[in-house]
Amino acid sequence: MAVKIDTGFSAKDRAAIAAGLSKLLADTYALYLKTHGYHWNVRGPNFQSLHVLFEGQYQEQWAALDELAERIRALGELAPQSYSAFANLTGIKDGDPEKGWEDMVSELMRDHEAVCATARAAFPAAEAAGDQATMDLLTERFTAHEKHAWMLRATLGGK
Ligand SMILES: [Fe+2]
Repeated sequence: MAVKIDTGFSAKDRAAIAAGLSKLLADTYALYLKTHGYHWNVRGPNFQSLHVLFEGQYQEQWAALDELAERIRALGELAPQSYSAFANLTGIKDGDPEKGWEDMVSELMRDHEAVCATARAAFPAAEAAGDQATMDLLTERFTAHEKHAWMLRATLGGK
């Protein structure tokens, strides 16, 4: 049964906004998975602090997945939900458990910067449609990934 959606956005706007959110959801899933894997496989003299740092970051991203997917659903679009769908939507590469800790930290830092760019790229469609709820969510996600990138950068001795 076709049930009309009447939340004040056109079907075209809802699809455009959801497309940006779907990319962000896929990036977040891929980076969540990589961060959790590095939490398991990181090695070295600072194992404990990195193990804990990565845990905080994967848990934060895990919680965000549901918010992103449910915003897509509230817009009346279907959320991507499979590894293959996420792989098609994200530019985040799989993690490598053989990497040394510095390479893991550096890779995660660059990935968070890339997710910041994805969140920023999703903004114009939401802004043009006056979708304050999505703009709030994107701002929240941008802020979180920027903070994760800072903590990883500082771990490498950067400002
Ligand atoms: Fe754990």
